[in-house]
Amino acid sequence: TLTIDTATPKAKVSPTLYGLMTEEINYSYDGGLYGELLSNRTFHPSWSGVDNWTLIQNGDAHATIAGDKTTGPSSALPHSLKLTVTSADAHASAGFLNGGYWGIPLHPDTTYHGSFYAKADTDLGPITIRLVSNNTGTVEASTTVAALTSDWKQYTYTLKTAALTPSSTNHIEFTVQKPGTAWFSLVSLFPPTYKNTPNGNRIDLMQKLAAMHPAFLRLPGGNYLEGDTIDQRFQWKNTIGPLVDRPTHMSPWNYRSTDGMGLLEFLEWCQDLHMQPVLAVYAGYSLKQQHVNPGPDLEPYVQDALDEIQYVTGSTSTKWGAERAKDGHPAPFPLTYVEIGNEDEFDHSHTYDGRYTQFYKAIKQQYPQLQLIATAPVTSVRPDVIDDHFYRSAQQFFEDVHHYDTTDRSGPKTFVGEWATREGGPTTNLGAALGDAAWMTGMERNSDQVIMASYAPLFVNVNPGGMQWSGDLIGYDALSSYGSPSYYAQEMFSTNLGDEILNAKLDTTNPRIFESATLDSHNHHLYLKLVNASTTPQTVKITLDGAAHVHATAKVTTLTGKTTEETNSITDPTRIVPQTSNITNAAKTFTHTVPRYAIQILDLTVE
Ligand code: AHR
Repeated sequence: TLTIDTATPKAKVSPTLYGLMTEEINYSYDGGLYGELLSNRTFHPSWSGVDNWTLIQNGDAHATIAGDKTTGPSSALPHSLKLTVTSADAHASAGFLNGGYWGIPLHPDTTYHGSFYAKADTDLGPITIRLVSNNTGTVEASTTVAALTSDWKQYTYTLKTAALTPSSTNHIEFTVQKPGTAWFSLVSLFPPTYKNTPNGNRIDLMQKLAAMHPAFLRLPGGNYLEGDTIDQRFQWKNTIGPLVDRPTHMSPWNYRSTDGMGLLEFLEWCQDLHMQPVLAVYAGYSLKQQHVNPGPDLEPYVQDALDEIQYVTGSTSTKWGAERAKDGHPAPFPLTYVEIGNEDEFDHSHTYDGRYTQFYKAIKQQYPQLQLIATAPVTSVRPDVIDDHFYRSAQQFFEDVHHYDTTDRSGPKTFVGEWATREGGPTTNLGAALGDAAWMTGMERNSDQVIMASYAPLFVNVNPGGMQWSGDLIGYDALSSYGSPSYYAQEMFSTNLGDEILNAKLDTTNPRIFESATLDSHNHHLYLKLVNASTTPQTVKITLDGAAHVHATAKVTTLTGKTTEETNSITDPTRIVPQTSNITNAAKTFTHTVPRYAIQILDLTVE
């Protein structure tokens, strides 16, 4: 039996409860959300030469390509690709090709915008640029760019496809028909992006995120904030301004970030999806146990965080607000939460208390309105919010759904900044979604305490080599994307939130059935979430105490499947998706049967 008191709410639901956590992991931005189609666009030198670029020698042409560390278009990009053509003509062109991030996706009747920096030591004639099918050799789009000059200069180009079957088995070619030497850098190609933003985001992934109605975005990480070493931390100042001035950096997830998704792009992503940023600032500790001692040594890092907050929030009369305006965004962004570090409990030097306190005092002095999040326990000051992380099995979540029931409400608020049921991969399965949903009922019932929660990781590129961390929310390849059952559980919970938590008593001996009841006080909708993770259907007698009238018809949204291993995948993207139906027996007291392995939301109208 489930008895819900509809008359006297327990507390307010946090309006920011459900948000997103993000970082460059699993090719989340490069090869994921960030629209760039070409991989290794800046030809960063590697031990094996020039990764992802291949020499073209058509017919009798003869040429070489090599990384050149001596010249580049900017001080941030001091290297380039050197193309040396010793023999080429109209029938024998030479150049190089790129296969994208596991393919270049092409759609019919679509315009692609590209650019590159280049210079040449002789007249190589025009550069021909073509999008070519790997399988058939068909040229799907073609254009030329005028002959290069002897100085580094940016060139732009446009490629338009005609009728074709969408596919990702394509590559791009850059060729010349004369001998000579040329250097290239920042070779880029973008498809249409979300809201047609230049340097913008992939449309299908943005649409999937928008459907979740996320309230916030925790950025830029995770481990990605910290880096393996201090040098490899997320240095936000290296991620703003023209792309040619961004040096790129090595991420802790073992690949190089283009930093095309820089601080401003993160903020614009927030703006596009009406999310507030939860800005994580580097706090002097990196993953391989490098740390900065509190005191004078930490001061430059504190100042860097203050500059970053000013870049986000400052008016154009401030130094960093003016810089933001120069970068194309004069309006400041809203900011309430700043997180100091990430998972600092792993810092063996145990300096977090001192580091947090130093950041806290400096930030509060200039920005007393900001809420400052701690990532580990501290005692010298009282954090506003503590970030808790949980990566667990479904069973562990089932057993801990009362985790926050007894948390002292007079202490710091809670941000569950990373959590997930890690079952299934690359994306999670129905069993994981059941663990997630059970856990979410606990967070929701306590959302006066748990003010924000974000699942992690958000994204995975499902190609071999694309994944560094299994158990992810949204999967994709170059062409298409899908949501895991966990994604749909999130979407169901976050779009049926309400604003008041109702007192409810679930009387059962079944340890795998869970509930949360919230009310939208404006439209009298009562959202009853029921999770049945057991092997048999469960019939619940529901009593809505205090309700004068309950509409007999209620919408029921159900996520279920035959086994807990069932899942969605790139080839079977909609196997487990929510289904809606109606019940017509809703009343002050009624019975309802929840199928086995099911997450259900009953949308009841209560007056
Ligand atoms: O989400 C993957 C990683 O898990 C995050 O980068 C880190 O914060 C946590 O340990």
